[in-house]
Amino acid sequence: MGKTLKVGTLISGGGTNLQAIINACRAGSINAEIVFTGSDVPGVRGLERAQDAGIDTFVVNYANIIATCKTKGCDGRLPKDFDLNDIQAKQRLIDPVKDPEKAAFFLKTRAIAEKMLLDEMADYEMDLLVLAGFMRVFTPYFIDRINTEPGKHRIMNIHPALLPAFPGTDGYGDTFRYGCKIGGCTVHFIDYGEDTGPIIGQKAFEIEDTDTLDDVKAKGLAKEWELYPACIQKYAESL
Ligand code: GRF
Repeated sequence: MGKTLKVGTLISGGGTNLQAIINACRAGSINAEIVFTGSDVPGVRGLERAQDAGIDTFVVNYANIIATCKTKGCDGRLPKDFDLNDIQAKQRLIDPVKDPEKAAFFLKTRAIAEKMLLDEMADYEMDLLVLAGFMRVFTPYFIDRINTEPGKHRIMNIHPALLPAFPGTDGYGDTFRYGCKIGGCTVHFIDYGEDTGPIIGQKAFEIEDTDTLDDVKAKGLAKEWELYPACIQKYAESL
């Protein structure tokens, strides 16, 4: 085995995927170590899981940042190296022609939060950033500061559907409501769009006629816990 992959993790909630990765690192089934866990939401169970495993944690409270920008404005808070035109031209998250003000507010608030994340992460050496149930999208401001080597992806995400079907925040719900007979999950790299980056791995499961949405979520999560560590290991072996 080569060098141990240093993995940063970001979460927003329960952190069962994080736990699966912690367990795989501990068991030695993947050649990786988690160097930090950050969250955009304070007090979530995933932060406790990280702390129980002796992993450093931090919170960048996106909801507070967005609320403050709404009441007090955001221009004074923007990162010094923020260039709205550059970010707007690269991103594929929001249509700046349809509603320029909304798009600018979205990109500015996210960049303010992203700069705070980058500042927290700067304390750590990291090969790969793993989004484990992190429910925020990244603008090119953040992506370009992680993917610094041309052509080399360094941000991985897990999505609860078989992409390119059902992008967005409710993959299992959308799969279930469509009446699909097969569901699944996807690990992919992050690019400038939402759930559009190159696919690293996928796992599928059958949906029975008697399955409820909760059944679909439970089947999907069980697949995620196998898939995510396997994709991290694939990345470790590719270096
Ligand atoms: C997972 O279903 C993941 O695919 C989605 O959010 C959920 C996170 O679950 N993005 P957990 O926090 O890892 O338990």
